Amino acid sequence: MFDRLPARVRVYEVGPRDGLQNEAVFVPTEDKVRLVEYLHAAGLRDIEITSFVNPRWIPPLADAEHVAAALRDAPLADCRLTALVPNERGLERALENGVREVAVFMSASETHNQRNINKSIADTWPAFAPVFARCIAEGVRIRGYVSAVWGCPYEGEVAASQVTDIAQRLLDLGVYEVSLGDTIGVGTPRQTARLLEALLERIPANALAMHMHDTRGTALANCLVGLELGITTFDASIGGMGGCPYAAGASGNLATEDLVFMLHGMGVETGIDLGHLARAGAFAQACLGRELPGRALKALCAAG
Ligand code: HMG
Ligand code: MG
Repeated sequence: MFDRLPARVRVYEVGPRDGLQNEAVFVPTEDKVRLVEYLHAAGLRDIEITSFVNPRWIPPLADAEHVAAALRDAPLADCRLTALVPNERGLERALENGVREVAVFMSASETHNQRNINKSIADTWPAFAPVFARCIAEGVRIRGYVSAVWGCPYEGEVAASQVTDIAQRLLDLGVYEVSLGDTIGVGTPRQTARLLEALLERIPANALAMHMHDTRGTALANCLVGLELGITTFDASIGGMGGCPYAAGASGNLATEDLVFMLHGMGVETGIDLGHLARAGAFAQACLGRELPGRALKALCAAG
């Protein structure tokens, strides 16, 4: 067992975006910036820093411009800082503030797409067209998310063929990878194996990432299946913060420390230092004024 594990995986940190977007507390800009600096100090080299969506929809990230501008001037060596953008307006705001990598997002389920970005799936493609054109012209890298892959809060089951078609189309348009979202954390390992096997018939493993919310405690088990099937990029959020405000009951992402603890224990490198990661987690807890759900963080803090 486990003889196909990769030697190294890339952990893509979404805490400052996916984590903070669902928090009731507005974290001041300087603390958001410090959180990113803590994450960088822990060895993370892919960090999603904020979101240029309509601030009326996501008030906790209404300071996206200030966060991006402050980080443009911060000396974070070798780090790719990504911002979420839903449309041309969001891209414009991101570029004006020095962002050089963006993530677009849509859902594999019609109803979740409508609730999340106020458009049908069919109407999402034309809205993306100017975003892709400008990014390609300006050499800005694009990541693509597909949400509700393991299940939709409104429609239930989502067909693997629908996920594959959307992921393939995003890749054809120019995203460098597609991150598959278990937005409401309902995936279980056998389902994950079937889903990934279907996707991998058409899409290479190095063009896919897994973005698991840990609502029901199955995120790590699903990642282990992904690892076995050749996936080498996993999204995670410091302390397990997060959720999608347009998917009722969606809770935090898989905690970065839980993922890194498991990977290191299995001999898989990440380039991340767990001690420093615990400091980032403790800082996130202090910013939010509450204990975060990540389990390894609790253990690391208890051990001092
Ligand atoms: P809309 O209302 O359909 O947009 O929203 P519109 O084009 O009709 O414009 C309406 C107003 O919004 C106008 O302002 C626009 O200027 C403004 P007004 O004239 O009324 O004053 N507007 C904007 N303002 C700032 N930045 C923009 C922007 N675009 C329009 N970019 C829109 C469409 C997509 C903007 C809206 O639905 C929205 O902001 N949705 C965001 C929802 C969201 O952030 N969800 C969470 C992120 S996704 C997620 O968490 C899942 C993920 O983690 C993966 C997973 O877990 O599965 C990625
Ligand atoms: Mg998410």
